[in-house]
Amino acid sequence: MDSTALPDAVRRVLPLLTTEPAPVSIRDGYLDLLGTEERRPSGPVQALWESRAGTAVYEPAQAFARKVVARLRPPAERLHLPEGGTALDVGCGPGTVTAELGRDVGGEGVAIGVDVSRSMLRRAAGACAAPNVGFLRADATELPLGEASVDAVTCLMVLQLVHDRQAALAECARVVAPGGRVAVLQPGYAGPGADAVAAAAGLAGVRMPGHRAIAATLRAEGMTVVEAETTAPVVRVLAEKPAADHG
Ligand SMILES: C[S@@+](CC[C@H](N)C(=O)[O-])C[C@H]1O[C@@H](n2cnc3c(N)ncnc32)[C@H](O)[C@@H]1O
Repeated sequence: MDSTALPDAVRRVLPLLTTEPAPVSIRDGYLDLLGTEERRPSGPVQALWESRAGTAVYEPAQAFARKVVARLRPPAERLHLPEGGTALDVGCGPGTVTAELGRDVGGEGVAIGVDVSRSMLRRAAGACAAPNVGFLRADATELPLGEASVDAVTCLMVLQLVHDRQAALAECARVVAPGGRVAVLQPGYAGPGADAVAAAAGLAGVRMPGHRAIAATLRAEGMTVVEAETTAPVVRVLAEKPAADHG
């Protein structure tokens, strides 16, 4: 396919992919790297996020929640994203955070949103795509990007829905460049009755690992943990890949 027919941002992302897809399949404004393969949602909540109704409800709900609860907001400048850099938003949902990352990297940079939900991606590409903001359909446990190909990764409110959390975290650590940061945010609660809360969430397919488990996985992947805490309603972990040693 003639790559000039692709959305600008997607065209800019192609060189970062591990393998250029053939054919390049653009669907509703995003690059679909999973094709027609049907995948079973990880639970009822993920099934909701893969539906039109769930997507329609999620976007205004997250905007309201982030206005009211500061801890739910993306880490912004703590990501240390360079102007002109490349940002990856894993499990981008409706693309609002990806668009913010696009503003942070500026016109010379690029922000890439990745998700498995066609309906979220349709909304993201329709509302948030820009010359420097593009969207891919791919799985967090098998990111299609090359090693050390991005300057920062966000994975916000996603891991609770992923079958293989360790694989997703390993992928975040793999694709970030030395000196780059990975920010993880997910639902969390460590107060009285935490086990009962986790068990109830589990019934809806929502896993609630604490910050220690997430931090331990990122450390095992060679990252340095900068911050790890659980303050209801969220777990926040920020980690940095050690800069390359040129000595
Ligand atoms: C609660 S939404 C969060 C969206 C966005 N990150 C935010 O903070 O507003 C969770 C998103 O993760 C996506 N997701 C779940 N499992 C995924 C996986 N294995 N790979 C990629 N995305 C996934 C869902 O489709 C959904 O869009």
